[in-house]
Amino acid sequence: MMGKKVILDVDTGVDDALGILLAVRSGAFEVLAITTVNGNVSMRQATDNTCKLLQLLEAEEAIPVYQGADRPLMRESYFEHRVHGKDGIGGALADMPLHKAASDGFAADVIIEQAKRYPGEVTLIMTAPLTNLALALRTAPELTQLVKEVIVMGGVVGSYGNVTPTAEYNIYVDPEAAKIVFHAGFPSLTLVGLDVTRKALLTKERMDTLGDTPIGRYVRESTADYMQRYYERNGVYACVLHDLLAVGVAIRSDIVTTKHYYVDVETRSELCDGQTVCDFQNRLSKQPNIRVCTDVDTDAFLDLFVRTLQT
Ligand code: BDR
Ligand code: CA
Repeated sequence: MMGKKVILDVDTGVDDALGILLAVRSGAFEVLAITTVNGNVSMRQATDNTCKLLQLLEAEEAIPVYQGADRPLMRESYFEHRVHGKDGIGGALADMPLHKAASDGFAADVIIEQAKRYPGEVTLIMTAPLTNLALALRTAPELTQLVKEVIVMGGVVGSYGNVTPTAEYNIYVDPEAAKIVFHAGFPSLTLVGLDVTRKALLTKERMDTLGDTPIGRYVRESTADYMQRYYERNGVYACVLHDLLAVGVAIRSDIVTTKHYYVDVETRSELCDGQTVCDFQNRLSKQPNIRVCTDVDTDAFLDLFVRTLQT
């Protein structure tokens, strides 16, 4: 039996890469495509990383990769080399030759095509700035009624940011795109923000249970500096699994608790651009537009990740 039809939109990045591993290895999905975008690294680097990851998984023939936006809608790029390393995946696949490059086609068009081909069936798992989806919505606003659901790793509603004091990275990089997506009218839009992803911490001990396999070695190598950076900033030595949690939610929605709120994005503030503002008390009297993740069953999620990659 085929799994849930999904498209992953990524800026591969250490945690995007682990999300791809989880998505492909879980067997829970039929991955229709992986689309890439400017974010942690350039769109082209993210594309190469993604193609190499698929080679590592021996899935490069089964899953097509498409390139998307190489810059935010209105702003300059803001790379995260300090967190994700020079190539975005901690140098872990630096020696792997690239055998299969991206397929022809533009990410936003591919999202529209696949949604039209399988109306009501496609789940979009977005783990990067939302530029590609915003572009797709501009061309085809009816997309909101065609996709089954959208799961976004991004934002933070009850805590502090991870790139500015108030903003989470994916929303900060392209807040105009996030605003378009948040207000587009998707019937099911889930926000997997830092409120929950900060609780998804993989310790070194748990990571070591992945064993001495190519995947186990890849995970350890790609995350070594990333964990060190997290320790320097947060005082906790662990691998924070932001993007993987969005994939985890697509596999098992019961690992998170959600609540429906009206959420908007700040785009016109010197200090707070990219902040996701959640109207907890409905002070604006607006209809809720987003299912916000408020809690996570951390153990269930970490077990899912480790067990999936052990097999
Ligand atoms: C998000 O920002 C990126 O650096 C990560 O890949 C993740 O998507 C976390 O804030
Ligand atoms: Ca990402």
